[in-house]
Amino acid sequence: MEQILQHKQEIENLQIADVKALEEYRIKYLGTKGIVKALMGEMKQVPVEKKKDFGQLLNEFKQFTESKYESWKETIQDRSNHLSGLDLTLPGDAVPAGSRHPISLMRNRIVSIFQRLGFAVAEGPEIDNDWNNFTALNLPENHPARDMQDTFYISTDPAWLLRTHTSNVQIHEMSKGKLPIRIITPGRVYRNETISARSHCFFHQVEGLYIAENVSFADLKQTLYFFVQEMFGKDVKVRFRPSYFPFTEPSAEMDISCLLCHGDGCSVCKKTGWLEILGCGMVHPKVLENCGIDSNKYSGFAFGMGIERPALLKYGIKDIRLFSENDVRFLKQFTGAI
Ligand code: PHE
Repeated sequence: MEQILQHKQEIENLQIADVKALEEYRIKYLGTKGIVKALMGEMKQVPVEKKKDFGQLLNEFKQFTESKYESWKETIQDRSNHLSGLDLTLPGDAVPAGSRHPISLMRNRIVSIFQRLGFAVAEGPEIDNDWNNFTALNLPENHPARDMQDTFYISTDPAWLLRTHTSNVQIHEMSKGKLPIRIITPGRVYRNETISARSHCFFHQVEGLYIAENVSFADLKQTLYFFVQEMFGKDVKVRFRPSYFPFTEPSAEMDISCLLCHGDGCSVCKKTGWLEILGCGMVHPKVLENCGIDSNKYSGFAFGMGIERPALLKYGIKDIRLFSENDVRFLKQFTGAI
């Protein structure tokens, strides 16, 4: 009787997971030479007074081994039914890889170059007030330069608008009162322009700002030279042209030699051999003062560039509208690009 209980314990601990193990179990316990049969054979040796108890226990044990067998059989069959019709040797379906947007790719490249020079990324609101987008940047009301940027107004009194440049982030950062500042500000900007292959009513800019003691135009030039070399290569030539921005004085525009014709003149550079890529200058003392910064002690430079133009050039894209139409056939071409 003790043996029976031991066998029962043994079975209790068994894990039968496949047909082979189940068959081994059947042979061991329920086969013609199996344990159950053998125990039955011992019945005749059991003393009469114990026969009843032994018989009962053995019977229970037999039922137990059989029902265990049936239940394992069922689960194993269930599982194989579930898998039948599946060919597990077939190759799997590849999960399609996503891709980064070309504007993100270009923004990341620009930002990482300046990060290596110690510039930190700062972001600001796309909806801002008139002060941060215009007035504090030395564009008081009725200033003619406001016409340079066709603005989408959300309200007029007080004036809230979609920022026309990321220069509003300059104001936000300078007004925090922590110096020095060395930031790069990527973001989306809005201008009420006719949509065409070359311009859109929204686009992206990266602006840079460096404010500290004794910052000079030479620092600005050296920073931008480094950027151009890293971005476009060592052979690309650079030129500065005097320009005008209300928030910088002196101001300049920077051109690089045409990446396509290398300065010979082609349709992309309109036969000039040069491509205009950014505006820059020394931050106007009035802008510093508007943000509570002592312009006798501190000076700084700022520059701003579009992201769309270099992305068009780098990827050979002919129409700026492709960037925002999100045609998967277009976007898929950037899979794997970093
Ligand atoms: N904010 C200017 C623009 O959008 C670019 C610029 C930034 C020029 C900083 C000079 C200095 O056109």
